[in-house]
Amino acid sequence: MEILRTVAELRQWSREERNDGGNTIGLVPTMGALHAGHASLIRASHESCGFTAVSIFVNPTQFGPSEDFARYPRTFDADCALARAEGADVIFAPSVEELYPASASTFASTFVDVEGLSNRLDGQSRPGHFRGVATVVTKLLIAAEPDRAFFGQKDAAQVAVIRRMTTDLRLATEIVVCPIIREPDGLAMSSRNVYLSPIERVQALTLIRAIRAVEALAASGERRSSALIAAAQGIFAAEPAVRVDYITLVDWATLEPVEIAIPGSLFAVAAYVGTTRLIDNAILA
Ligand code: PAF
Repeated sequence: MEILRTVAELRQWSREERNDGGNTIGLVPTMGALHAGHASLIRASHESCGFTAVSIFVNPTQFGPSEDFARYPRTFDADCALARAEGADVIFAPSVEELYPASASTFASTFVDVEGLSNRLDGQSRPGHFRGVATVVTKLLIAAEPDRAFFGQKDAAQVAVIRRMTTDLRLATEIVVCPIIREPDGLAMSSRNVYLSPIERVQALTLIRAIRAVEALAASGERRSSALIAAAQGIFAAEPAVRVDYITLVDWATLEPVEIAIPGSLFAVAAYVGTTRLIDNAILA
């Protein structure tokens, strides 16, 4: 498994593999600190594409000034081992200067901004976050020219932004969304789970408790957003150590709130457990 550092190398690799017998190329964009959720994306790519590239890049433009960019877990050697075991053919691990050539002077000058969507859900709490995500994903898609790119449903608002962006820019890559992978007790896999202390790890289960309660209530026939959100609020109220950022029911494509849940509506939560911000969601049946 090769490790590529430049856009030119990645593009050349992708073009050569595609031309070699008409293979399809899969890209799994990540920020490293790979876990079972990422493993499922790499596996999905390996199963449906001839060749798979995994990018590992902690993207500075998607972190706010007081966020965890500096301490974001960096586990490159373990990431390479996991990616190789799941069938990755190359790792793309560029420097900041490689992906942001203007960074020496102004940090970055060209951005992709998905207006409207970028300010909803996590974008509301983390101004500039989705502009950074859309910008780096555009750069990665232009560099790798993949047939398919794989993302986790865990980051459901990110998925909405990326889908809108690839449609608006008429990019040729198909966006594939893979299910949320959970710990045995239900906590959604996240690279940030390592920040949780043992007691916070228990408190973090409030998110999945709220989601399961809402799914059950919706399945029993309660489709009013106000009632579903109130049920989730009740569950968070019983765990005051967990501070809610948002609890919302939205249309997954527009991220606009809906009053009545329909099949495919996105129920999403974000909450702080200690200083760690966690997100989770369910697509209602
Ligand atoms: O989901 C992530 O890990 C990141 O937001 C992504 C898509 C790799 C962009 O940096």
